[in-house]
Amino acid sequence: MAAKPFIILSLLAAMFLFTFTCALPRMKDSMSTVNGNYTHVCDAMRFFELGLNVKDFAYCDTSLPYEVRVKDLIDRMTLSEKVNQIGDTAYGVTRIGLPAYEWWSEALHGVSDVGQWGHKASYFDEEVPGATSFPTVITTAASFNKSLWKHIGQVVSTEARAMHNLGHAGLSFWSPNINVVRDPRWGRALETPGEDPYVVGEYAVNYVRGLQDVEGTENATDLNSRPLKVAACCKHYAAYDVDNWLGIERYNFDARVTEQDMQETFLKPFEMCVKDGDVSSVMCSYNKINGIPACADPRLLRGKIRGEWDLHGYIVSDCDSIEVMINHQKWLKDEPEDAVAQALKAGLDLDCGNYYTNYARNSVSKGKVSEKDIDVALKYLYIVLMRLGFFDGIPQLEDLNMTNVCTSEHIELATEAAREGIVLLKNTNQTLPLSTKKIKTIAVVGPHANATSAMIGNYAGVPCQYTSPIQGFSKYGKVIYEMGCADVACKNDSMVFQAVKASKKADATVVVVGIDLSVEAESLDREDLLLPGYQSRLIKLVAAQSKGPVVVVVMSAGGIDISSARDSSKVHSILWAGYPGEEGGQAIADVVFGKYNPGGRLPLTWHENAYVDMLPMTSMQLRPIDHLGYPGRTYKFFNSSIVYPFGYGLSYTNFSYSLVSSTKHLEVQLNKFQHCREVNYTEGLYKPACPAVLIDDLLCDEHHNVELTLEVKNIGEMDGSETVIVYWVAPSGIVDAPIKQVVAFERVFVGAGASEKVSFVLNACKSLGLVDYKGYNLMPSGGGHFILGDGDDLLKIPIHIEFKHST
Ligand SMILES: *[C@@H]1O[C@H](CO)[C@@H](O)[C@H](O)[C@H]1NC(C)=O
Ligand SMILES: *[C@@H]1O[C@H](CO)[C@@H](O)[C@H](O)[C@H]1NC(C)=O
Ligand SMILES: *[C@@H]1O[C@H](CO)[C@@H](O)[C@H](O)[C@H]1NC(C)=O
Ligand SMILES: *[C@@H]1O[C@H](CO)[C@@H](O)[C@H](O)[C@H]1NC(C)=O
Ligand SMILES: *[C@@H]1O[C@H](CO)[C@@H](O)[C@H](O)[C@H]1NC(C)=O
Ligand SMILES: *[C@@H]1O[C@H](CO)[C@@H](O)[C@H](O)[C@H]1NC(C)=O
Ligand SMILES: *[C@@H]1O[C@H](CO)[C@@H](O)[C@H](O)[C@H]1NC(C)=O
Ligand SMILES: *[C@@H]1O[C@H](CO)[C@@H](O)[C@H](O)[C@H]1NC(C)=O
Ligand SMILES: *[C@@H]1O[C@H](CO)[C@@H](O)[C@H](O)[C@H]1NC(C)=O
Repeated sequence: MAAKPFIILSLLAAMFLFTFTCALPRMKDSMSTVNGNYTHVCDAMRFFELGLNVKDFAYCDTSLPYEVRVKDLIDRMTLSEKVNQIGDTAYGVTRIGLPAYEWWSEALHGVSDVGQWGHKASYFDEEVPGATSFPTVITTAASFNKSLWKHIGQVVSTEARAMHNLGHAGLSFWSPNINVVRDPRWGRALETPGEDPYVVGEYAVNYVRGLQDVEGTENATDLNSRPLKVAACCKHYAAYDVDNWLGIERYNFDARVTEQDMQETFLKPFEMCVKDGDVSSVMCSYNKINGIPACADPRLLRGKIRGEWDLHGYIVSDCDSIEVMINHQKWLKDEPEDAVAQALKAGLDLDCGNYYTNYARNSVSKGKVSEKDIDVALKYLYIVLMRLGFFDGIPQLEDLNMTNVCTSEHIELATEAAREGIVLLKNTNQTLPLSTKKIKTIAVVGPHANATSAMIGNYAGVPCQYTSPIQGFSKYGKVIYEMGCADVACKNDSMVFQAVKASKKADATVVVVGIDLSVEAESLDREDLLLPGYQSRLIKLVAAQSKGPVVVVVMSAGGIDISSARDSSKVHSILWAGYPGEEGGQAIADVVFGKYNPGGRLPLTWHENAYVDMLPMTSMQLRPIDHLGYPGRTYKFFNSSIVYPFGYGLSYTNFSYSLVSSTKHLEVQLNKFQHCREVNYTEGLYKPACPAVLIDDLLCDEHHNVELTLEVKNIGEMDGSETVIVYWVAPSGIVDAPIKQVVAFERVFVGAGASEKVSFVLNACKSLGLVDYKGYNLMPSGGGHFILGDGDDLLKIPIHIEFKHST
């Protein structure tokens, strides 16, 4: 989002404030509260005050279906009035009682105040000083806990709706960001759930359901009238994950993507978000895909999202995407009226920006697009506003107020999310958890030892409060605090000595290192995967002289090459905390002192730094490209040395898995019209007579289910949570198949000495498919297997698929 760098935006905002100080507050009111005193549009008093009678307006007649009401509203507008409603700032039409509305709000991990400068829909002030700031998504993703993801969404939407009632928030939030982290350098990894498309998709579905679903109506069958608590938005569609790498910017980047990667990786989470999450909006991205700007591609918008996936909602552009087509991409040497027409015809309903507002009228006059296309866009937009209660209110949400924001339960959930997301990477000789009996003084050193705003990352709001690491640890003992570095850049070692001195005095040393938004951020990709400046040296010198055990805590989103700390006998334990939100310091201390037994898993492969020299960030392909020497991307295709693998994470206890039962054989019935499909096999290896069938041709009902039940036993001495990740490996010999791929996961709590049964029911059509190089989604026959666990505990469970032609 935010086409311009933040500093420029703030400058502009400051200028705007300077020039228009009088106009601004009024604008704010009308944007977020429906003309100051009214909570919804169709309030009879509101119409009366405008000199109108609500009874004259069918769009306010609640006895009519939304479609009819929306048509009435649109049919009342002139062309000029219509084009005033299809930018993120919709100006309203006072003449017919329609107020202004600002579409742009954000709620990536809490209600944020990022949005349209000048007339922000969501903001903080004395009346609403803050909202709960959850860990950044990469941390929450590491919990692998679907119910947590949903629960956070529910709390965020409760706070959002309370703020809305107080005139402090919009109803449409452009979150979550569900782009797959294809390259470890990507600056926006913190906003995302990581590198696996299925995990990312599951996150999207759960967070979106948490944000959107109104309790009791989640199973409503008419998806065009299903109420929305707030409207979520899955972004950025699609193949968007180059921000600014060596001068190559997202605005002019042309992502060259194969159909195979498109189906399998880049579109997958969006498909899940729309089909399973029933999201009410999708945002298209700035970049081009194979030469076409994403926001002007009818195949991707109208074809996929609206057509194949059946979106119930609106499609919005990233901010100023249409302007980007003209000024950055010089797309088809377009005039603004051409670009506006192409975007409208492609299926883009709302422009974050002012190109639609400024040029759509002329575009219609010149015959480049029909007014009817604008009507269609407006229909999708107003149906969403109807579902949100913008016109009629939603009674069960109207009592929410400040007593529902920053509650102790919400703050505790933010702490819990951070605890669940923290990943234990190393724990030599079970150094952790530390014991308060033995450890009385703790040296807390490093550039993030007193982290506050770094913990909430970007797309944040104002948090209720912070608990920094030094504050968290001070609840467990006497803290000796030294930064060791002036900042994250850590340009010299002048402050290292003080940190070493502290660690010599203390019973234990915690070194909090890492990076922040000055290194990885929107519009800022990384050039290497190392700790900046002298941070590694700080760890080494402190560890060499520390009196007690040494615990390294890493704050980052993308993986860091910490192989020297991993391999050092002086560093006993390593934790990754991501950016753990407003209560991050509390959660870290709770984990270090064993109040919470960590169970998070890495949602990303942690690569060695040498990886960045093996392939350019601009190469989109996931599979290795042999003739260029590119080694492949993500755990699915990279098969070489790494620092820590995707899915890695230790516990203070140990778990063992045993198989209880599983489907060994699945027979899929084919009728005589269903044809076998070819699959490339390595030469010389066995290839079944009917190697594969098209998944689209199958019925995909419960006869295609396979079942897997295992027992997870906690064989250690401490209660803990274990994440069971189920990978599927395709029948061997298939050329180009992933090394393995996640098809299911479940986080389970198991008491010390106890065991829990965990069952999975997988539909083969969803879980046992492969996208071939031609873009077909195929189910291969033959003997594949599931993999669970790792190392010595690896379970390999065979699953054989056979096709039977009925005669
Ligand atoms: C998952 O998160 C929920 C919070 O929504 C928590 O109550 C539960 O204990 C977590 N499950 C596990 C296994 O950690
Ligand atoms: C909606 O369906 C789910 C799954 O079948 C069920 O668990 C839930 O109770 C249903 N909710 C309502 C309000 O009926
Ligand atoms: C907020 O809502 C609660 C519950 O409905 C109510 O008891 C309380 O008086 C409200 N507070 C304010 C400040 O309106
Ligand atoms: C920690 O950071 C906060 C916020 O930046 C600051 O107010 C506080 O003084 C710092 N604490 C110490 C001990 O330096
Ligand atoms: C070390 O870095 C700090 C902070 O950037 C700076 O103030 C100081 O002058 C530097 N010291 C040396 C010896 O370069
Ligand atoms: C771990 O414990 C073993 C056995 O007590 C000891 O030999 C070894 O030095 C310890 N390792 C470290 C890093 O403290
Ligand atoms: C878990 O098992 C490993 C390998 O047997 C062992 O080295 C480790 O000490 C055990 N950890 C705990 C917490 O029991
Ligand atoms: C698969 O085999 C076909 C036919 O031999 C060949 O043209 C194609 O390049 C192969 N594809 C891959 C990905 O190996
Ligand atoms: C990965 O590399 C190892 C060692 O080079 C090799 O034995 C193995 O077959 C490879 N795995 C796959 C799935 O390519």
